[in-house]
Amino acid sequence: MKIITTADGSHTLFSEQFNEIYHSRHGAIEESLHVFIKSGLDYVSKEQKEEVRIFEVGLGTGLNAMLTMLEAEKHDLKIDYTAIELYPVCIDTIKSLNYTPQLGYEYCYGPYHTLHLVRWNETHQVTPHFAFKKIQDSLFTYSLTLSNYHLIYFDAFAYTHQPEIWSAEVFKKMYDALVPNGILVTYSSKVVIQKAVKEAGFTIEKIPGPPGRREMVRAHKPT
Ligand SMILES: C[S@@+](CC[C@H](N)C(=O)[O-])C[C@H]1O[C@@H](n2cnc3c(N)ncnc32)[C@H](O)[C@@H]1O
Repeated sequence: MKIITTADGSHTLFSEQFNEIYHSRHGAIEESLHVFIKSGLDYVSKEQKEEVRIFEVGLGTGLNAMLTMLEAEKHDLKIDYTAIELYPVCIDTIKSLNYTPQLGYEYCYGPYHTLHLVRWNETHQVTPHFAFKKIQDSLFTYSLTLSNYHLIYFDAFAYTHQPEIWSAEVFKKMYDALVPNGILVTYSSKVVIQKAVKEAGFTIEKIPGPPGRREMVRAHKPT
């Protein structure tokens, strides 16, 4: 796994297996904050004042999970976070990433590593407001709890590198796992992806994308 520095100074990884990087070259932290925190969590938590249940597709470096954990503690927001990952990143690589110093949160070094060190397939209360479960399985075969999540972070590798994960069948699975009014956010707004998302039953909202992307998708499951 090769470490690459992106435009905002934060690291990302290059996967030889998928021949693809884990985040945008225009800024890994900037992308995660824009797509998942600002366009997903901030949006949902305006309405959902109780616990917010989140499902993430592709834990990867755990950047989205850590940013969500920080938001939970900053805003006293109770979050139950489940992430699926088929190919976990090894802890030595995780320890080389610069996310906590880049964010100015050196003290989060511990909780960030905890996300990677805890046992799989069980829930851990990592910080007072952040319960975390990671599942080592494939999204294609894993059975998600139905009508359970308020928000899905769909952070798969790009369509050009893993087209099968952006299928209507997978999005239907995401749709079924969301509560009515639930939201799915993803960084891509490719036409073929929009088509698959719509076919699964979602309505699509196109909103401004992170640096380097004009638009991204916020998909809504109707009531
Ligand atoms: C774009 S990266 C995710 C980046 C991650 N969210 C982060 O913050 O670092 C896509 C992730 O999906 C994982 N993945 C690929 N195929 C998968 C599958 N079938 N099921 C579950 N995870 C998969 C990859 O191993 C990779 O970690």
